[in-house]
Amino acid sequence: MDSQTREHLFEKAKDFVYEAGQRIKEKIHEPRTIETKSNPNDLVTEMDQSTEKFFAESIRNEFPDHRLFGEEGFGDDVQDLKGIVWIVDPIDGTMNFVHQKRNFAISVGIYEESVGEIGIIYDVMAGALYTAKRGEGAFKNDEPLNLMKERSMEQSILALNTSWLIPENPHIEHKGMEELVKRIRSTRSYGSAALEFAYVAEGILDGYLTMTLMPWDIAAGKVIVNEAGGLVTTADGQELDMLNKTTVLACHPDIHKEIIDQYVELKYNTKKR
Ligand code: IPD
Ligand code: CA
Ligand code: CA
Repeated sequence: MDSQTREHLFEKAKDFVYEAGQRIKEKIHEPRTIETKSNPNDLVTEMDQSTEKFFAESIRNEFPDHRLFGEEGFGDDVQDLKGIVWIVDPIDGTMNFVHQKRNFAISVGIYEESVGEIGIIYDVMAGALYTAKRGEGAFKNDEPLNLMKERSMEQSILALNTSWLIPENPHIEHKGMEELVKRIRSTRSYGSAALEFAYVAEGILDGYLTMTLMPWDIAAGKVIVNEAGGLVTTADGQELDMLNKTTVLACHPDIHKEIIDQYVELKYNTKKR
């Protein structure tokens, strides 16, 4: 994609994100219709759905040849990343949206022929807009983000879910996680993958390790973390599959290899998933 096309697309995507954020803010205190999806803790509200519908209509009006890969099913049946595909999570952190009315984000990644060109993550209630265009750096509200300073494991704060410390968890050997938690400075868990990527890009988290993300959780964050100088792979260091569920390690480059080599032992081979 040439830089002029990317710039035009970025400005439009940013307009859509701000408008979607405004609609959410206006209705934040209205009563919610809350349904569950795959399990009782997998929540969806009418706001997740109406926000994705808004993206679907806006993209179809403005860019009829682009496709939408969205969480709530108002987009296209995307089986490959040919052409230009918008990968959208209308509300990432729905549980926070429902319980806290904050700590959720709109996440929009725009990919061309599988390459991440644009990433936008909007923390709606905090008014923080994280953005990146491929090859042009990452920004928070127009201030550049970059992970220049050195990081050791001992200085690191990692976003981790405490479930990975439970021996019976189906994903990862808990012993390695225990050793990891003992070694690093501290852990955090924010409940929005998009925000956890954004915080890694910002350098207020040094890494984010997780087991079950979908492409719409990752698409924008990958572009933003990469542009800030961080690495984004599966938890065992492979390239991410942007069409299916995956593990993820997004982190400062100084600690990426050490986490994988010394602490991550998955209970399955991500290549065969
Ligand atoms: C979820 C959040 C959460 C992550 C889950 C996601 P949703 O997204 O990002 O932090 O742990 O795996 O599904 O359902 O709120 O869009
Ligand atoms: Ca999500
Ligand atoms: Ca969502």
